[in-house]
Order: sequence, then C-alpha cells, then structure tokens
Amino acid sequence: MSVSIDTARALLANNDRGGYTVPTEGLYPFQWNWDSAFVAWGFATHDIDRALAELEALARGQWDDGFLPHIVFHADADSYFPGPEVWRTPKAHPRTSGITQPPVFATALRAIEERGADRARVAALYRVALANHRWWAAARDPLGTGLVAILHNWESGRDNHPSWDGPFERVAETTTTTIRRRDTGHVDAAMRPTDAEYRRYIHLVDRYAALGWDPARLWADTPFKVADVGVNAILIAAEADLAILAGRHGTPAERQEIEARHRRMTAAIGGLWHEGLGQYVSRDLISGAPLDTPGSGGFLPLLTDAPDGERIRRLATTIEALMAEGVQPVPSTFPGAARFDARRYWRGPVWAVVNWMIARGFDRHGRGDLGARIDAATAALIERGGFAENFDPLTGEGLGGVAFSWTAAIYLLIAERRRRMARVA
Ligand code: DGY
Repeated sequence: MSVSIDTARALLANNDRGGYTVPTEGLYPFQWNWDSAFVAWGFATHDIDRALAELEALARGQWDDGFLPHIVFHADADSYFPGPEVWRTPKAHPRTSGITQPPVFATALRAIEERGADRARVAALYRVALANHRWWAAARDPLGTGLVAILHNWESGRDNHPSWDGPFERVAETTTTTIRRRDTGHVDAAMRPTDAEYRRYIHLVDRYAALGWDPARLWADTPFKVADVGVNAILIAAEADLAILAGRHGTPAERQEIEARHRRMTAAIGGLWHEGLGQYVSRDLISGAPLDTPGSGGFLPLLTDAPDGERIRRLATTIEALMAEGVQPVPSTFPGAARFDARRYWRGPVWAVVNWMIARGFDRHGRGDLGARIDAATAALIERGGFAENFDPLTGEGLGGVAFSWTAAIYLLIAERRRRMARVA
C-alpha cells in the first residue's frame, strides 16, 4: 500500500469493526487499550465523531472500580491467544482481559476536545478517565509513593523489553494453561517473544485469575512488580490533561485531587533517573534494582515537568548522537545494549507511537527542533517501510504486522502537525 494521508485514513476505515478499531487484521483482532487511544487521536484529525466513538467503545470495557482493560473482546475471533477463556475475568458484556496498558486515554480525550468535540460526550468520557486515574492510584500505588506499578510486562506496552528479563527470573512457567500461540502464524517468530517468555507471561495470568483479579490480592501476591518509566510518565502527562478537562467538565475538588496526584508523581519520577546512562529507567519494586537497559521508554519523562535543563540536554545529546551514527530514532532497545535485537519486537525496533510522544516531549522542553527531526524521521520510516507495526533501527525496514492502525494514526498526526507549523511559519 502506498503511503499517503488518504491511504492512512483508508487503513483506519478498513480496520474499523463498527465503532472500534483493531490494531491490525488477524494478529490483533480485538480492541486494544493504548492502540485505540492513539487511533482515536488520529481519527480526530478528520472525524471527531469517530474519534469519540473509539474511546466510548473502550469505555464499555471499564470495570466498576475504574480499571480499563488492555483488551476488550467485543466479538469472537480465534486468531489470537490468549483469548477470554484464558483471562477468566469477572467482566461480561463485553468480556475483557484482566491487565491494563499505558493510560493514554485522557491525553487522547483532551486532543479530541481541542479539535471541537461534543461537550456532553467529552464530559461523559472525562468521568471514565477520572475513575481510571483513581484506580491507578488506589490499585497500583496503594502505599502512596508517587510511582505506580505494573504487574505484567504487557501492561508496559513495551512487551518484551529486556528490562523485564530480570524480574521474570522470579516468575515460573505455566503448567496449567496450554500455550497455543497464534502470533507466530501471522508474523515471523524471529520478530516475536520466545515460547519460554510466553509461558511466563501466561503464568502471571493464571495466577491472577486464581486470585479473582482482586487488585489487593494481586498486589500482595505478585512476583512481578515494576515501576515502569513509560507508564509512569504517560500517566503523569495524562493527569495534567485530566486536570485541564476537570476545569471544564469537573468540580474544583476533582481538579485539586488530580493536581495533587500530578505533583506527587512528578516529584517521584525524578528518582528513576540513571546518571550513568543519562536517561530514566524502570525499577524492580521487589528487588529495588534499576532496570538499566537503555531504550526509548527512558525518554518518556520528557512528557512531564520532571527533567531539568541538564537532564533535557543529556537526553537530547543521546538521541542526536544515535542519529549522527545513522541509527533510526528512537530504538526501543539501544544498539550496543546486551540484549539488543534489531528485529525482535521491543528489543530494538522503532515504534511510531513512542517517537510521537518523545517528539512532543522535546517540543515541551524548548527542543522543537529535535521534535521536528524525530517527526521527519518517523514519517520517512513509514513512507519507506509502509504502515508496519515497527521498524528496524539499523536498516529502516518495516517489521512485524502490516497495515497497523496506530502507525497510520501517527502518520496522520505528523502530517496535521506539519501543516499547522507551516501555517504558523
Ligand atoms: C500481544 O499479544 O503481543 C500483546 O501485545 C499483548 O497484549
């Protein structure tokens, strides 16, 4: 498929299953949480009504306690494992998974509202996001440290990043669920996690299902508890966006509550800075160890007010140095890191959505020049490699699944941004 604004829109229309969008046909046949938030944002460039519908469909998967699942199984499909029969969650109509994903929802909602959305529909979605942020604080930071935890690597969105290898040494392999991988029927196995990794991923699912998916029991029992730098940065940015939405759709007390969480989290994420690497890293909350494999996730705190001038300079210098060496920005795992693998999912490849966030982070901190360079590199990768799932950081080749919704969404957002900048100039 040739790459253009028209084909990006056509791709989204083609992946539309009637009010929600699948990440890609076959490999991911349901609605995924953070994929859909980016897709909603992308739809907002040309179809506000459809953008709101995407978030409304995701909201139908919300649990009573505010939890937003990472997958909503609106319809049956047998091309994906693990399906609802493996998750065994209490939620029905629609059925869902039992873990979450990076909370982009409030940020996408604010972006949609800015483009002129219906006030009542935004107000209803604001309440969904507020309940969800309360869930994050209560369920994933019960001690009030200012850092939320993920309890499954899939919650990071950066599924098989080498940072999770250390914590996974504590996790057994499932003995109760038969692994029936479907992903390797769609995509070359060399680009996907290994079978041994999957057995551990599913062990966590089995274990949490046995605990009835009760957040307090999961917190007390889990062998995998990580303060992921990406999820924390994305949540802080989302709290800032939610505070603005609260000013229009909420009460003063809600706004204060959100701002208090935002302040506490902004202060806490500074503790994830790694001086030796010159970037932020995740932390294993069970061993206390920093998870120090460098990669794109460590740049996401640029979305927050946490980094000072010196840290911003170091983050920028690192990316500029990679680009000067001919590396495509920004690899999920940096070349030279021990477990770098240029073609395997989050162990090397470049992801358009992460680039989009890092670029907006540099804009935010007065480095719009670098943000624009990252956008240009992202657009060029897509124009050469198609709307692929991800891209080889050394060759630029498109990898993983093809016809990916969020890659098309980011292409539309970059094009819209460039049009705006051209008008301003
Ligand atoms: C997968 O199946 O690869 C997903 O990323 C997990 O949700």
